[in-house]
Amino acid sequence: MAPADPLDRRLAVAPMLDWSDRHCRYFLRLITRRTLLYTEMVTTGALIHGDQERHLRFDPAEHPVALQLGGSDPADMASCARLGADWGYDEININVGCPSDRVQDGRFGACLMAEPRVVADCVGAMKAAVSVPVTVKSRIGIDDRDSYAELVDFVGTVAEAGCDALILHARKAWLRGLSPRENREIPPLRYDVVDRLKQDFPALPIAINGGILTLAAAVRFLDRLEGVMIGREAYQNPWLLADADRLIFGDRKPVPTRLEVLEHFVRYVERELAAGVPLNAMSRHILGLFQGQPGARAWRRYLSENAHKPGAGAQVLTAALPRPRRTHAA
Ligand SMILES: Cc1cc2nc3c(=O)[nH]c(=O)nc-3n(C[C@H](O)[C@H](O)[C@H](O)COP(=O)(O)O)c2cc1C
Repeated sequence: MAPADPLDRRLAVAPMLDWSDRHCRYFLRLITRRTLLYTEMVTTGALIHGDQERHLRFDPAEHPVALQLGGSDPADMASCARLGADWGYDEININVGCPSDRVQDGRFGACLMAEPRVVADCVGAMKAAVSVPVTVKSRIGIDDRDSYAELVDFVGTVAEAGCDALILHARKAWLRGLSPRENREIPPLRYDVVDRLKQDFPALPIAINGGILTLAAAVRFLDRLEGVMIGREAYQNPWLLADADRLIFGDRKPVPTRLEVLEHFVRYVERELAAGVPLNAMSRHILGLFQGQPGARAWRRYLSENAHKPGAGAQVLTAALPRPRRTHAA
């Protein structure tokens, strides 16, 4: 089946629990207009029984933005996908990569790689419920079930169910014995496996993820794959994304400066503060703005020490600026 995938997924920022929340995404969107942004994983339980608005609200400026769901019950996944589409998300993604114990107890995340049929049923039910693309983010294997044949079986089953694109974190996960953090570092990266899979599934859009630190590296993958997803580096060094619109998407609009980005973000922060959001919930995402620049450490320290104080306002952000810049941003 030819997937109907209207999204340009050449570059994406990964779903990251506690990191890629709506404030983070708003900030990153000021740096890159075209990069696809993913939410944190939201479980079907949280959406069905919890505060939907808290989990799903986002600013229209964040488009294109994909909602990542965690779950394994096809009917629940379909109704949560519908909710996401109704809220305006541009894609609904299924988490088949998270190895945490909590997620395994709920029978979703990476452990679903052992149950391709369940993931396919979720994809099928979600596809029937929404018209936006439905995608899967997985590892390349789990535990001892890490043969290429098992991966092909998983991908084939999911692709046949209508999955519009696959994002592969190019390392396996150990479900026992490694923490989620170790599972992002210890199993070796196997980009060759992703390349091989692309050859075997030429019609399925595939994005690669894991350990990609520069746009130059991303461009090299785009020769042969439809997309690249960057996680930690995009969060810790967000200015990495400043050249993305030009380099990856061929967009000729000028790149804003860090100060312009900050000025815009200050206006956003003022609006959100007025709505009751604490400064620290937003400022924590911009600690990396001056990464690699003179004064970066003082900027981080000032924000970390002052943003959580009671009554802290948006002026903390400009007061934290490295000295020579402060006067221009005021
Ligand atoms: C703090 C943090 C939270 C994460 N949360 C999620 C998540 O909610 N869903 C998911 O699929 N992956 C999650 N991941 C994994 C990333 O999406 C990505 O696959 C991983 O970090 C590898 O990419 P990178 O090397 O570019 O960081 C998380 C990673 C980090 C660092």
